[in-house]
Amino acid sequence: MTHSTRSPSNILIFDSGIGGLSIADEVTRALPQHPIVYIADNRLYPYGIQPDNALLARAKTLFPTLESHYQPAIIIIACNSASTLILDEVRAITQTPVIGVVPAIKPAADITQTGQMGLLATKGTISRQYTADLIAEFASHHKITKIGSDILVSQAERKLHGYIIEEALIEKELAPIITNSAIDTIILGCTHFPLIKQEIQNTLGNRVHLIDSGEAIARRTTHILSISNQQLPPTSPPPTHTFIFTAENNQVSKLTPALHTRGFFTIKIGNH
Ligand code: DGL
Repeated sequence: MTHSTRSPSNILIFDSGIGGLSIADEVTRALPQHPIVYIADNRLYPYGIQPDNALLARAKTLFPTLESHYQPAIIIIACNSASTLILDEVRAITQTPVIGVVPAIKPAADITQTGQMGLLATKGTISRQYTADLIAEFASHHKITKIGSDILVSQAERKLHGYIIEEALIEKELAPIITNSAIDTIILGCTHFPLIKQEIQNTLGNRVHLIDSGEAIARRTTHILSISNQQLPPTSPPPTHTFIFTAENNQVSKLTPALHTRGFFTIKIGNH
C-alpha cells in the first residue's frame, strides 16, 4: 500500500468490475478536485449471479479492510447488485458515510407518460426484496418489464476493454422491450449499462428515455462532503486517481486506455 492513497479527501468507489466508472464519471464531473480510489472486486465478478451469502460474506471482510487501508471520506457502492443486498451491513461495520447505488425507480416513475417502464439490471438486482420494495413504494401503479442480464454486463466490459460489442446479443436481450411499444422509460439499474447507453439507445430507438443514477449519486456525494466539511476547494491541484483490482487480471493492458482517459494513472492489484 502506498502512502499516497491515504488521504481524508479520497472518494472510494466500489464495483465488481468497470461499471462503477459510470458513477466515477459523474463524481469527477461534479468534484474534479477529489482523488478517487476505485476498487474493482474482480475476485468475485460478476456480482449479478453470485449467491447472496457469498456477497454478504465478502462484504463483511472486504469493507472494513478497504476502510482502514484507504481511509476514504466517503464510500460509494457503485454496484446495484451489491447495494440492494449489503448496504445495511456495510453501514453497520464501517464508520465512513456509505452511499449505495440502487435502481432509479422513483425518477423514472415520475417521468413516464405511459406508465410502462423497463428495468434493466442484473439477475441479482431484479430478484432482490430491496428492488421489490422500491417498486412498491414509488411505482406500484406502473407496469414494469424486468430484464435481468449478465450479457449486457459483459458487453459493457468488452467495450471498455476495446473489444467489438455484439449488437445482435444486445438486441436479443432487449427483445421484451423492443416488442412493447408502450414502454417509454428504461431504468438502467446496473452501473455497467450507462457505459453502453448509446448502444442501448440505438437498439431501442428514441421513443424510450434512459434513466440512470449517476448524477443523483454525484449530488449526494457533494452534499455529504460539504456537510462533513471534507469538500476540497475547487482550486486544489488536480488529483491522481487510483484503480485497484482485488485479484490478478491479465486484461489490464486492454483496459488501460479507458482508465487513462478518466484520469486513473495508478493501476494495480490490491490482493484484497
Ligand atoms: N455493476 C454491477 C451492478 O450495478 C454489477 C455487475 C456484475 O454483475 O458484476 O449491478
